[in-house]
Amino acid sequence: MPRRVQGDASPGPGDASPGDPGTLSGVPVRPREPRDIPACVASLRRVHDVSGYPSRWPADPGTWITPRAMVAAWVAEHDGQVAGHVALVRGLRLDRLLQATGLPAESLGGISRLYVDPGFQRLGLARALLDAATDAALAHRLKPALDVVDESAPAIALYERAGWRQVGTQPATWTDPDGSVPLIRCYVRP
Ligand SMILES: CC(C)(COP(=O)(O)OP(=O)(O)OC[C@H]1O[C@@H](n2cnc3c(N)ncnc32)[C@H](O)[C@@H]1OP(=O)(O)O)[C@@H](O)C(=O)NCCC(=O)NCCS
Repeated sequence: MPRRVQGDASPGPGDASPGDPGTLSGVPVRPREPRDIPACVASLRRVHDVSGYPSRWPADPGTWITPRAMVAAWVAEHDGQVAGHVALVRGLRLDRLLQATGLPAESLGGISRLYVDPGFQRLGLARALLDAATDAALAHRLKPALDVVDESAPAIALYERAGWRQVGTQPATWTDPDGSVPLIRCYVRP
């Protein structure tokens, strides 16, 4: 099976349009607009430099945050600045998730490209973004699901605090810059 490089298991880049905002948690979360892309990319760059996400900096980061099967994307704002991002994709083709849910890949709503600018972390922005994407998945009759690398302690803490259930682990579908294949944890929203 061909391996993709970097990121998570969501489909590759392409066109999609934003959808409705999900349930908010007192944090300004709104559908991403095309004019937000430069700020989203600038934020992603800071996340990459500080946290190593994504493990390999994409050739076209604006396209990378717009996966091909994207249903919608949202941004979180802090003091009027774009401070975080998440996307929802239709379909997540990860064996562990398919086995655990018994669903076809197309029925999974993948929470993807979730990150918060290092200057605005621990303010509840990721939780609000996660909730917005989760609510949108359910509205689209998709089972919310996601994957996260085993070393991403902050993200794992976020998902488990939010009530997501780990259903197993498997090798990632991409290689890291050093040629290794990271272990990923697969989660579903019960
Ligand atoms: C993971 C990430 C998105 C969290 O963003 P955030 O806005 O700081 O998260 P929140 O403020 O919404 O945190 C919600 C809860 O998650 C947990 N959590 C978040 N970051 C944590 C950390 N560094 N350590 C421990 N728990 C953490 C806590 O339970 C937190 O609640 P609390 O602050 O009341 O204790 C952010 O650290 C990030 O962008 N990391 C790099 C990119 C990444 O790994 N993305 C995930 C890809 S799968």
